[in-house]
Amino acid sequence: MTDIGEYNPGGKLQYWQETEALRNPDLAKQYVDLLIQEQIIPHPDKATGFVFLSPSANQGMFEYEIADRLNQSITKKPDPPPIFLAADIFGNYQDGQFVPGFWKGFYQDEFDNVIFQKISADANKIPILDNSVDVIWERLGALWHVQNNRATGENLDSTPIVNLLNEYDRVLKSGGVIILDAATQTEGATNSTIDFLEGKFNIPGAQINPYDYKIDLKELGWETQFIGSGRARLAVLRKK
Ligand SMILES: C[S@@+](CC[C@H](N)C(=O)[O-])C[C@H]1O[C@@H](n2cnc3c(N)ncnc32)[C@H](O)[C@@H]1O
Repeated sequence: MTDIGEYNPGGKLQYWQETEALRNPDLAKQYVDLLIQEQIIPHPDKATGFVFLSPSANQGMFEYEIADRLNQSITKKPDPPPIFLAADIFGNYQDGQFVPGFWKGFYQDEFDNVIFQKISADANKIPILDNSVDVIWERLGALWHVQNNRATGENLDSTPIVNLLNEYDRVLKSGGVIILDAATQTEGATNSTIDFLEGKFNIPGAQINPYDYKIDLKELGWETQFIGSGRARLAVLRKK
């Protein structure tokens, strides 16, 4: 496995070895149980045409687990089949030029009943048509990075959060949802995306006042509902 260390434009990591999917394999199972229970992942009978997009999937470990479970619960391939898109901004510099690319992935990624597709893309410009996605899975992804970069002094522009949310809104079908990580904070835990968006930074040595950059999701037209608990707590955002 390649080690961490390559950075692409904007300072995004290529391979995140700290991913909790590696440290806490039960977490993926907890997420899937929760998504099924809340009917965010459709009942297998209703999976026709379902589209799941993760814009900042890194190695796609959680995405794979979710797709795998739906695949196993379907007995006859729906027409059209459900699609899982695991995207990331991965890429490399070659001769000074940025060349988009993608990880090879640890898993076999062909399922009988579900399409699992890896994409190299910037979450700000998702190469997907308007109104085509049911669920956006945003766990410690592009939204989190904007706030994290601000806290560490890399990026003091407040607009990208709104741009990203608008881009997600563009690709979402009417009634579609954005799922954000909202883990209850414990010592040493990564700050959740929802806490970051709401200005509750907790980065030692952060260079800015978090409240200067907090986002009012309600004002931007997003209603927030919380599901699950502990490390597996999630925020579900719906456009009003
Ligand atoms: C902290 S890792 C989290 C990965 C994964 N979602 C997880 O839960 O383990 C953040 C990921 O976001 C990606 N990323 C950051 N900004 C992005 C952007 N604008 N578009 C696409 N991916 C982005 C990084 O390349 C990195 O793989």
